Amino acid sequence: MRSFTTFFLFCLSTSITFFSKPSTSVSNTLTTSQFLSINQTLFSPKGIFQLTFFSYNNFSWYLGIRYNIDHDKTVVWVANRNTPLQNPTAFLKLTNTGNLIIINESNKTIWSSNQTNQNSTLNTNPILQLLDSGNLVVTTEPNENDPTNFLWQSFDYPTDTLLPGMKLGWNFDTNTETHINSWKQTDQDPSIGDISFKMDYHGVPEIFLWNKNRRVYRSGPWNGKRFSGVPEMQPVTDSIQFSFVENEHEVYYSFSIGKESLFSRLSVNSLGELQRLTWINSRNIWTKFWYAPKDQCDNYKECGPFGVCDTNASPVCNCIKGFRPKNHQAWNLRDGSDGCLRNNELDCESDKFLHMVNVKLPETSSVFVNRSMSLVECGDLCKRNCSCTGYANIEIVDGGIGCVMWLDELIDIRIYPAGGQDLFVRLAASDVGDDGVGGSSDHKIARAIGIMVGGATIIFLVLGTCYLWRKKKLQCLLKGKREKRGSLERSQDLLMTEGVYTSNREQTSEKNMDDLELPFFDFNTITMATNNFSEENKLGQGGFGIVYKGRLIEGQEIAVKRLSKNSGQGVDEFKNEVRLIVKLQHRNLVRLLGCSFQMDEKMLVYEYMENRSLDAILFG
Ligand SMILES: *[C@@H]1O[C@H](CO)[C@@H](O)[C@H](O)[C@H]1NC(C)=O
Ligand SMILES: *[C@@H]1O[C@H](CO)[C@@H](O)[C@H](O)[C@H]1NC(C)=O
Ligand SMILES: *[C@@H]1O[C@H](CO)[C@@H](O)[C@H](O)[C@H]1NC(C)=O
Ligand SMILES: *[C@@H]1O[C@H](CO)[C@@H](O)[C@H](O)[C@H]1NC(C)=O
Ligand SMILES: *[C@@H]1O[C@H](CO)[C@@H](O)[C@H](O)[C@H]1NC(C)=O
Ligand SMILES: *[C@@H]1O[C@H](CO)[C@@H](O)[C@H](O)[C@H]1NC(C)=O
Ligand SMILES: *[C@@H]1O[C@H](CO)[C@@H](O)[C@H](O)[C@H]1NC(C)=O
Ligand SMILES: *[C@@H]1O[C@H](CO)[C@@H](O)[C@H](O)[C@H]1NC(C)=O
Repeated sequence: MRSFTTFFLFCLSTSITFFSKPSTSVSNTLTTSQFLSINQTLFSPKGIFQLTFFSYNNFSWYLGIRYNIDHDKTVVWVANRNTPLQNPTAFLKLTNTGNLIIINESNKTIWSSNQTNQNSTLNTNPILQLLDSGNLVVTTEPNENDPTNFLWQSFDYPTDTLLPGMKLGWNFDTNTETHINSWKQTDQDPSIGDISFKMDYHGVPEIFLWNKNRRVYRSGPWNGKRFSGVPEMQPVTDSIQFSFVENEHEVYYSFSIGKESLFSRLSVNSLGELQRLTWINSRNIWTKFWYAPKDQCDNYKECGPFGVCDTNASPVCNCIKGFRPKNHQAWNLRDGSDGCLRNNELDCESDKFLHMVNVKLPETSSVFVNRSMSLVECGDLCKRNCSCTGYANIEIVDGGIGCVMWLDELIDIRIYPAGGQDLFVRLAASDVGDDGVGGSSDHKIARAIGIMVGGATIIFLVLGTCYLWRKKKLQCLLKGKREKRGSLERSQDLLMTEGVYTSNREQTSEKNMDDLELPFFDFNTITMATNNFSEENKLGQGGFGIVYKGRLIEGQEIAVKRLSKNSGQGVDEFKNEVRLIVKLQHRNLVRLLGCSFQMDEKMLVYEYMENRSLDAILFG
């Protein structure tokens, strides 16, 4: 602590030295007659924050607000994040109209706060001040914390960090939105990155983590105490308090800190993580207090419409009671994104509601909301409206208040061991059964049935396709009596290892070539693995077809050779290639994992090998 004080005094004295040149003034303000040069630093009154130019490489310079308390001087705000200065000769200036500009040596404006308020009575004597909250403000009243006096404040333009007191959300009066956006590379390049944390105010507002234009995680709606998707979010008495404000003027999330010596910030990093970091004074470090996404079930839409994600189940995806997987094969290969279908269609009149507990409420962007309705009224309204698929209380305080009614698919539900909310899902009366509560108790049975049904489907498909193929005299390269048993064993293997296909090199290579048991890959699996044979996944092209790179759901990288329909490669050539590959396989060159086909298309699936002359092998 003493060293900190000494350091702080040092900083203060240096700042005074810096500012003694233009004019004698308090160290934490800048007037229109002064400027801040690259060597100078503006401090907040208690020395918690500093405003200074910084660079990581001496080529790109930025003006930023940084914590002054930590050794790393963590940057929490950057002015010119997308317009770096090319050399360290720049100044920050405050104009008479309260506009903040960074100019370079040739007086060229590199960055401007675009302050457009031209009201001269207000802007006679604007002052720039860095507050101890980390807010850089242009004001006419120094040492005033009242935002109505601010002509401009950095809190209105967050970069990648939400500090206590900053708002994340929408202002409907000015139609402006504030969100946080990651750096291109955290701790290296402050320019705007792909990851952002942004509020969608439609229906019941929720905050989404975005990767470019894709939603990857959502907070869940605010339930009066916390976000539905963050059950561990508990206000810490005397320290972190969370607030969510929603009215006709604005909707925002923000947090505050009760103790002066405590520092906490919420930021998004370039790796796609949202994290709350908290300063541990005694150890002088930032610790990760909380982060998201945490687990597979945090991935947006992991289990698709009407699917339920549960990290304690294996696989994590299940269907809501009364629903079945839409795509059994993908489901068995652990891809639940297609979601679930109703076992029995609704008929409106006689439908019942399944009471689910401890859930993260489904996405609420297109729901019906009435904040004054009781749960009973909500249920009645939902029952009367045939397009209502489920309902819940909006807030969990006071025994539950408000009504939120879903009129569409229920998306992105997950179950928590504790701390979730109640959700009522509309089902055909025959699907509800006698227990009002669905979810975890049914997992095992659902899974067993899922595996049985999925298994039957796969076996049926393998048999069916091999029969078809045989008819075409292609034979999937399975000859002799062992063919059917072989492929059956494979498909059972596939199930028993729960979707993880384990190839068996020795076994295959020992066998006679004509006795090959080549695993069959479902066309959809290949389509998924190669991102629908996307151009991006294309590895190369040969006379006989195109080779794509892909990744199976279980993570294995594959190369798929898709023989063009009119390649002219006949059955014999096809067989020869496989024989050749099997020989090569013996020498550990490239491994043939299986084959696949769809209509007239033949596909060979190889193990993908980086940095080997795959072309040479595949194209001969
Ligand atoms: C910054 O400081 C260095 C060394 O103290 C000096 O050479 C340089 O001219 C200063 N730059 C500005 C813009 O004041
Ligand atoms: C930037 O310049 C400073 C002072 O000249 C030097 O100490 C530092 O190593 C340089 N940093 C890089 C990344 O080149
Ligand atoms: C000032 O900025 C302008 C525009 O970016 C640039 O063309 C010019 O070279 C810069 N001057 C100096 C001295 O950096
Ligand atoms: C930049 O502006 C200042 C003050 O207006 C002036 O003194 C200086 O000569 C200008 N520099 C250049 C390179 O135009
Ligand atoms: C100010 O306005 C210019 C021109 O419209 C724009 O390019 C720039 O990004 C704006 N600056 C800020 C900080 O919004
Ligand atoms: C400037 O601000 C004052 C005080 O808010 C207000 O009374 C006045 O009408 C404003 N003037 C203009 C031109 O907007
Ligand atoms: C909301 O529900 C209350 C209580 O049932 C009702 O009085 C009110 O009219 C409803 N508001 C809207 C907008 O439907
Ligand atoms: C169900 O409720 C929604 C939202 O209030 C409404 O738009 C829709 O028309 C209703 N449908 C029926 C069939 O009542």
